[in-house]
Formats: sequence, C-alpha cells, structure tokens
Amino acid sequence: MKDEKIQLHDKTFKPYIRHERILDAIDGVAREINHDFHDCTDIPVILCVLNGSIPFTGELLQRLDFPLQVVSVKLSSYQGTQSTGTVLNVMGLTSNVRGRRVIICEDIVDTGNTIVALKEMLIDKEGAAEVRIATMLLKPDVYNKPEKLDYVGMEIPNAFIVGFGLDYNELGRNIRDIYVIDE
Ligand code: IMP
Repeated sequence: MKDEKIQLHDKTFKPYIRHERILDAIDGVAREINHDFHDCTDIPVILCVLNGSIPFTGELLQRLDFPLQVVSVKLSSYQGTQSTGTVLNVMGLTSNVRGRRVIICEDIVDTGNTIVALKEMLIDKEGAAEVRIATMLLKPDVYNKPEKLDYVGMEIPNAFIVGFGLDYNELGRNIRDIYVIDE
C-alpha cells in the first residue's frame, strides 16, 4: 500500500485497509457461502450490485465452488459522501431470478436502505425463492434495519471510504486498497 494520501475531486483520503486484508475478509465470506451451498441441487444466483461490487463479486466468484449464475443490477442511493435515503432502480436485472435462490453481493452496507429495498424488490417483484445478503463491509453504527445480514466480510466505523470498488462521485473504484476521508 502506498503510504501517501490521495486526492479525489475536492477531498483528501488517507490509507485505511490494505488489499491483502480485504482479500482475507473475502476468503471468510467465501468459506461461509461454500459451507452453506456446496451440496446445493439448484443453481443459485450471485447478484452483483453495480458498479461498487464489481471487485468484490469478481474476487468472491473465484472462491465459490458450486454451480452458480452471475446476474447484475444497478442501483444508486449515494450522492457525493451522503446516502440520499431513496434507492433508485437505475437498471433492471440482467436476467430473470423467478424461483431462484439469490445471494446479493454488496460492497458496503451503510444505512441498509439499498440492500433492504433490493431484497424486497427481488422477493415481491421478481419472485426470487430466497434472498441472502453478502456484504464485503458493514458500518454497524449506521445500519438501522432489522434485516439479517447473512455474510459480512468486515465491520468498519462510520467514515466515508473509497477504493476496491467504492467511489467518491465515480472516482476511486480502481484503487487496490481502501482509503478513508481525511478530515
Ligand atoms: P446504504 O443504502 O445507506 O446502505 O448505502 C449503500 C450504498 O452506498 C453502497 O452500495 C455504496 O454504493 C454507498 N456507500 C455507502 N457507504 C459508502 C462509503 O463509505 N463510500 C462509498 N460509497 C458508500
């Protein structure tokens, strides 16, 4: 990890979580999912929530050892460094999930608005048979929903971060390590 601070738009970020530590967290999530799904007779859907979850889903997929299908969906609730509270369904699902078991792959759960709205949409509108939630990161101090999070890679304090898929106004997704806002 480079020790230097980085600048994205008008904000400065400092090094926070190393790439190797992120991969360790993903190893843990993969172990738990494999444990629960290794003898499945269906073909579960791994649902990548675009764009933030692309790196997480890519790493997770390489570690899963049962037959699965990858589907993507694009949602958005963040503007700048604040959750807007409303979840916009920007792009529909890339494939039908009716009657399927779905594992949502989310980069980070903050208030939980996004993940809860998505889970409801998958069950009520899209007819998924079961929906589980896998998230690389969780901000437990902010998460305020009764909904169970099935697989959590790592818990972090409430601070705005970028890197490994996470962006600040679309910048920072390609950074290998995670950086936190320097205030
Ligand atoms: P929630 O709906 O409040 O749980 O927010 C979830 C979404 O907000 C995530 O999928 C991210 O896209 C975005 N988000 C939440 N926290 C951060 C952060 O610290 N940095 C960048 N994006 C974040």
